[in-house]
Amino acid sequence: MPMGRYLREHPTLKYFFFGGKGGVGKTVFAGAAAIGLARQGRRTLLVSTNPVHSLTGLFGYDMLGKHVPVEGVPNLWAFEIDTRESIERSKVEIREKIRWFLKFADITTKADDFVESATMNPAFEESAMFENMIDLMFKNEYDVYVFDTAPTANARRLLGMSSVYSLWVNKMLKSREEARTLREMLSFTKKKETDPLMEYLVSFRDRMEHARKLLTDPTLTSFFFVTLPEALPIAVVTRFIQWFKDFGIPVGGVLVNMVIDSASLGPNAAVFVKNRVAMQQEHMQTIWREFDDSVRAIVPLFDAEVRGVPMLQRLCDAIFAADGAKPAQSAGVGTPHEVAART
Ligand SMILES: Nc1ncnc2c1ncn2[C@@H]1O[C@H](COP(=O)(O)OP(=O)(O)OP(=O)(O)O)[C@@H](O)[C@H]1O
Ligand SMILES: [Mg+2]
Repeated sequence: MPMGRYLREHPTLKYFFFGGKGGVGKTVFAGAAAIGLARQGRRTLLVSTNPVHSLTGLFGYDMLGKHVPVEGVPNLWAFEIDTRESIERSKVEIREKIRWFLKFADITTKADDFVESATMNPAFEESAMFENMIDLMFKNEYDVYVFDTAPTANARRLLGMSSVYSLWVNKMLKSREEARTLREMLSFTKKKETDPLMEYLVSFRDRMEHARKLLTDPTLTSFFFVTLPEALPIAVVTRFIQWFKDFGIPVGGVLVNMVIDSASLGPNAAVFVKNRVAMQQEHMQTIWREFDDSVRAIVPLFDAEVRGVPMLQRLCDAIFAADGAKPAQSAGVGTPHEVAART
């Protein structure tokens, strides 16, 4: 089912994610989709959770750490999460919590040693990004959010983390609760202790649970995968779709990028170009076989890179404008041109 029809049939979707192997076109697809959604009159925020400065490069002006209106597209704002800033903020928060805990537990070790080991972990950066992402979702200042995610391995970990967090926090809570009851039983005063760490854990767990609800709600969230007609990106998408299904995260479908239009090749086209087209056609068959009705768009390789609003609009048209039924024989052969025409 093509993208346009898919979106018409899922009008309540609010959180759009674009994932896939490195370099396949996640950022440009997220940008183009955001333009399409904004043009429907919905207040749209395009967000990059990718630590590499992708949106600033896409539009050509600075969007780091602030919501910037996109020139020439009413209803569209773009925002590049400032990873460094958010990591520093998380470090400060975690340092306070560790200090408090060490004091509470009568441990004399310096908090900084713990903070270093807790924050040197690459997962710490990801969890800081995740927190940023869900903060945006909870604030709910826009009608639609389009997330350009870091290469999908991270995206999946990010989303998977919410269920891991819940498990972990529940365990922590249980043992803290036991410890508290024990302390109260042993103490002579009958006054109840307040436990800031426990309060923090409870609020953290509730946040994660809220995030999990939003991210697994198929009426709100949809994760789209971008691939090329090439073996590795296809393998990546296949693997991630399975993982996402296991996590209960709704998959919106697959978008195929950079398909060479064989009709544009003259008889004298270079051999390597012809070979490339043949290779793409073979992989297109795999794509139809593997993803079948989940294929949402086949996008041609343009003659220039996709930067700036006019180019993104062109990409947006290529993603949305096409409509029609699924090809009669989904595993069927066809030149990329025919395939593009069928969608
Ligand atoms: N259909 C297309 N035709 C021509 N160029 C394209 C097309 N799609 C993407 N590009 C170009 O390919 C490059 C990679 O695209 P993009 O940055 O969106 O990929 P990405 O998946 O976000 O990469 P990363 O994993 O590094 O974040 C960019 O220079 C972009 O302009
Ligand atoms: Mg990118």
